[in-house]
Amino acid sequence: MKAARIHAYGDPDVIRVEDAPLPAIGPDDVLVRTVAASVNPVDWKIRRGYLAQMLAHPLPLTLGWDVSGIVEQVGAHVTAFKPGDAVYSRPDIRRNGTYAEYVAIRAAELAPKPATISHVEAASLPLVSITAWEALITTAGLTAGQRVLIHAGAGGVGSIAVQLAKAKGAHVTATASAAKAALVRSLGADEVVDYRDPAAFAAARDLDIVFDTIGGATQDASWDMLKPGGFLVSITQPPQPERAAAEGKRAGFVFIDPSAPILRDIATLVDAGKIRPLIGGEYRLDHAALAHAASETGRTTGKIVLYTGQP
Ligand SMILES: NC(=O)c1ccc[n+]([C@@H]2O[C@H](COP(=O)([O-])OP(=O)(O)OC[C@H]3O[C@@H](n4cnc5c(N)ncnc54)[C@H](OP(=O)(O)O)[C@@H]3O)[C@@H](O)[C@H]2O)c1
Repeated sequence: MKAARIHAYGDPDVIRVEDAPLPAIGPDDVLVRTVAASVNPVDWKIRRGYLAQMLAHPLPLTLGWDVSGIVEQVGAHVTAFKPGDAVYSRPDIRRNGTYAEYVAIRAAELAPKPATISHVEAASLPLVSITAWEALITTAGLTAGQRVLIHAGAGGVGSIAVQLAKAKGAHVTATASAAKAALVRSLGADEVVDYRDPAAFAAARDLDIVFDTIGGATQDASWDMLKPGGFLVSITQPPQPERAAAEGKRAGFVFIDPSAPILRDIATLVDAGKIRPLIGGEYRLDHAALAHAASETGRTTGKIVLYTGQP
């Protein structure tokens, strides 16, 4: 089968689109014939070797941990899926990934694909949706009526976080560059703050939750945006507990795992018209290196999708 793999860590040009063995499936696995995968910053962080100590992947490694496709074959213990089912997943990041025509995924990490969208759209959702859910709902405990600020509302995670927070009844403020403000409003944001405008940025105050998708100076500035007792949740760097205590605020950090239950809830929201995928770039698998270079700019809109197989 065709796969986009790395044999060494490095720049985008270490990605080789080549023949790779068909993945072997264990008794709890499903072999998925992929239609599309999507690109997340973690893909190029792994490609660069930034997570090599934490994940210790054997090389060569097939990149990519988002997929939508069709069940080709199931392991001996699998009863929840059968060949021909349309599924989507953010599979285990410790295994070979989804930039390939086929991928072996634990059945427990798969959910039925949302019925009302294409495989290409569905492939854009799993990782960012699980992230937005774990941050806003599981960790920060978002409830209806709360005032939430989401950094990078036009990004992969932010574009879903804005819609999820709205679907849960929050008042949503999002940061974005001025050129992307209308787009972020169209996702449901009540207010959009230009993060390059210091006055507008400083005016965002008294929030119940701030979702930090950027880190560094953005995380630092986020503390002042919270009301007393407010919650700073980050996916980029753990907020300091000492600072939370000193300010009388709460804080948490999320690093996601696969979650089929969340993907089932997300599919319900998608099919109810409450969440729509936002795709900012589409590439053939052969051009995975170009897709990585685009993601690494940090300026993309929504998600980048890779065509990995036939619909
Ligand atoms: N811990 C976890 O489990 C987890 C899970 C998912 C993602 N992450 C991490 O979270 C981060 C975001 O992921 P992503 O997929 O959303 O990234 P992304 O799609 O690449 O984000 C790109 C967006 O960020 C915006 N942006 C850049 N700088 C900004 C700033 N200072 N303020 C506001 N917006 C800014 C850009 O908008 P403009 O073009 O307008 O600047 C662009 O739309 C990455 O570091 C990723 O690795 C962690």
